[in-house]
Amino acid sequence: MATELLSPLIPHQQRRRALAVVVAAPLHALLLAAVAFSRSPVAAPASSSRLVDLTLLAGARGKGAVCLDGTPPGYHLRRGFGSGAHNWLVFLEGGGWCNTTQSCSERKMTNFGSSKYMGAVNFTGILSNDHTENPDFYNWNTVVIRYCDGASFAGDAEGGDLDGTKLFFRGLRIWKAVVDELMGKGMDAAKQALLTGCSAGSLAALLHCDNFHGRFPHEVSVKCLSDAGFFIDEKDLSGERSMRSLISGVVHLQNVKEVLPNDCLQKKDPTECFFPAELIKGITTPTFILNSDYDSWQIRNILAPNGSYPGQEWSSCKADIRNCSCAQLDVLHGFKKKLVSELKVAEDNKDWGLFIDSCFTHCQTPFDITWNSPISPRLGNKQSISEAVGDWYFDRRQNAKQIDCEYPCNPTCSSLLPTA
Ligand SMILES: *[C@@H]1O[C@H](CO)[C@@H](O)[C@H](O)[C@H]1NC(C)=O
Ligand SMILES: *[C@@H]1O[C@H](CO)[C@@H](O)[C@H](O)[C@H]1NC(C)=O
Ligand SMILES: *[C@@H]1O[C@H](CO)[C@@H](O)[C@H](O)[C@H]1NC(C)=O
Ligand SMILES: *[C@@H]1O[C@H](CO)[C@@H](O)[C@H](O)[C@H]1NC(C)=O
Repeated sequence: MATELLSPLIPHQQRRRALAVVVAAPLHALLLAAVAFSRSPVAAPASSSRLVDLTLLAGARGKGAVCLDGTPPGYHLRRGFGSGAHNWLVFLEGGGWCNTTQSCSERKMTNFGSSKYMGAVNFTGILSNDHTENPDFYNWNTVVIRYCDGASFAGDAEGGDLDGTKLFFRGLRIWKAVVDELMGKGMDAAKQALLTGCSAGSLAALLHCDNFHGRFPHEVSVKCLSDAGFFIDEKDLSGERSMRSLISGVVHLQNVKEVLPNDCLQKKDPTECFFPAELIKGITTPTFILNSDYDSWQIRNILAPNGSYPGQEWSSCKADIRNCSCAQLDVLHGFKKKLVSELKVAEDNKDWGLFIDSCFTHCQTPFDITWNSPISPRLGNKQSISEAVGDWYFDRRQNAKQIDCEYPCNPTCSSLLPTA
């Protein structure tokens, strides 16, 4: 798998516990969750009001909407209040993909493939119910849908595991069934809605954006926000297309077809149509793309995966962008150029928003530090990510598109930002 060991997406104080979970579940190379999780919510400290319990999907088995191991999928719902009581934010958890029987069967033994291992989730950043941390969405109904299918909520197939049991590739059914259940819990009366997610969950938000919009009456304001999901189909340092080969495995093993745009499928093969550069051509719902153009996951896994360069020469640059040589930075700038060029469609769409920073990080909405803090990344107009997204969502500002200059031009790029 092309995913990296170290967990990115977990606020610092959570990191040790989260890593312990990964080690306990012998799964290498797994990109950790977009949200921090805890196995013992009961024993949580006083700040535990941020922890939101897991709800298992009702009737999941009957609908065939199950995790890789056949257990029911889960989500976390915190009810909105006050002026947010009829607004809904749905966040799709991320965590890499599995592209082979082997990698999916390893995943089955973790919270990314089975609800047996899922616990409560700490709602921080864009999920926070604290007005100062999350001024625009703090009082919305907020949902995190857990990721346990390994194909960005998009596959529909069954497979045999090496041990003779079944592997269920039911991401698409999970998506549909959880949205149905949320509709029954009041989302059908939403006045405003936002579909978002980070990493593989952000790619899922792009895949399902128009479908989500279509579930609401016309007068409802529905938008999508993609955070660290703009994966590009770029060659690695050795000239191989390792990302494309990973995605090809996911698309074929898990039968990802139904959600791909028809226009694309007529011209290209399904693997290429799974990439955001193609997906965004077909999305009609207003969408905001938030991504670093030096995204730490993409640099480590798409541009410079292990094996794509001789010896150790890239390890310290991949570990910390401040350690890259000039020659390595030139390669990274090339990556940035490619990523930015693929965003042209979004740039030209007046209803869309862009926040493309040059900070070495991955997933910027679910953490207080990146979403809205004194050290969160800022671009030309000096807004935090929270302010930029809020102004775009509520049409408070004309130009919602900003693309950063080349690393290391941006003094707000702190080395404390989470990487993956
Ligand atoms: C699975 O992904 C890895 C990269 O992570 C790649 O090397 C391998 O070829 C892929 N396998 C299949 C069957 O797609
Ligand atoms: C890549 O290599 C580094 C350094 O040897 C190692 O720490 C890391 O675990 C490897 N990553 C993967 C995905 O194998
Ligand atoms: C939840 O996150 C907040 C903010 O990062 C932190 O202060 C708190 O300790 C976390 N709570 C748990 C139970 O992990
Ligand atoms: C970055 O470079 C410094 C100075 O050469 C070195 O001490 C440090 O270990 C390097 N960091 C990484 C992650 O390789």
